[in-house]
Amino acid sequence: MEYSLSEILSSYKGTQGELIPILQKVQAEFGYLPEEAMNRVAEFCRVAESKVFGIASFYAQFRFVPLGRTQVTACRGTACHVRGAPQIVDELKRQLGIEEGETTPDLEYSLETVACIGCCALAPCLVINGKVESKMTPKKVKELLTKGGQV
Ligand code: FES
Repeated sequence: MEYSLSEILSSYKGTQGELIPILQKVQAEFGYLPEEAMNRVAEFCRVAESKVFGIASFYAQFRFVPLGRTQVTACRGTACHVRGAPQIVDELKRQLGIEEGETTPDLEYSLETVACIGCCALAPCLVINGKVESKMTPKKVKELLTKGGQV
């Protein structure tokens, strides 16, 4: 991490106005904002660590935990909603033991929700590591996640 972070910081002057672009670069590099990196950014821009954390918390684009190896994205769009998306999301939370925006402690799964994935005719939908799973039911969620004994 040290080498990459130094590389990122080397292309900035260290002004407060650069905080967000720096955090975006850090997240692009590591997939999230590690605490150690945020502390280094604070030192580099000469601001309190709490300020960096406060700014990063304000924007939904920033993550404080790494993504899991399996990324589960549930659609919460209108078409999916009326066909049972809330029950699908509840089942995902129950099976994985995490809330939206979280990653399981073993870093195996992350759970996100989105407004629409563009497959409304197949609602309700999920995307698991880029693959669309259509016409989901809570039972299908359980089967998908237990496939290969992953949960
Ligand atoms: S609303 Fe879910 S795919 Fe469009």
